Amino acid sequence: MGSPERDIMRIGQIDVVYSSHLKGGGETFGQDFVRFISEYHHPVDRLLEWCSGPGFIGFALLTHGLCRELDLLDINPEAIAACDETIRRNHLTNVRASVSDCFDSAPKVAWNLIVANPPHSGTDEDWGGLKLIYQDPDWKIHQKFYRQVRSFLAPDGLIIMQENALLSQASDFVSMIEHSGLRVVDNLFAQSDDPMYYLVSAPAQ
Ligand SMILES: C[S@@+](CC[C@H](N)C(=O)[O-])C[C@H]1O[C@@H](n2cnc3c(N)ncnc32)[C@H](O)[C@@H]1O
Repeated sequence: MGSPERDIMRIGQIDVVYSSHLKGGGETFGQDFVRFISEYHHPVDRLLEWCSGPGFIGFALLTHGLCRELDLLDINPEAIAACDETIRRNHLTNVRASVSDCFDSAPKVAWNLIVANPPHSGTDEDWGGLKLIYQDPDWKIHQKFYRQVRSFLAPDGLIIMQENALLSQASDFVSMIEHSGLRVVDNLFAQSDDPMYYLVSAPAQ
């Protein structure tokens, strides 16, 4: 069996390598992160895209000057292999991609900003395709993320999750966030054709 077919999406100055079965919306509604962070926050030193897939969002934020260093984390080794190919192809020296289930194998970094377009369905309903992309039954992955994230976030750091308003609402996540010593800062609609919203959280103190 050969390696899966790869495609390229040019984002700013970066050729992002991907395979179509790894796409999770970062290439479409995920690109609204560039507008949102430009308006809502400021460029940061250290950015993490969690649940990165091929890194459409992280690479977009990097090429638009919204971070100096970029980390990409995903549980799927195939997604991280695509990120590594993008890093090589574009000679990027300030990007690192790691396979990790949430933060289990994450580098020890206190990120200034963590963004994610995580699996959006809290059920085990089968929609076809790669379940890793969309399934988070009983929000177990979100729970693990929020349980672990505090020690990987700078004291003035921010977490911005992009969620789907047809599949969840902020109240599904509030208690996970508050149990982790974080607080909800904002809940704002994205500007996209899909009904996406941003859930922004930060250390409680
Ligand atoms: C909705 S897709 C987003 C992919 C990409 N960021 C995009 O926007 O196209 C969700 C991603 O979460 C990853 N994922 C699922 N469970 C995970 C876990 N426990 N830890 C890290 N990544 C996970 C999947 O492999 C998939 O790449």
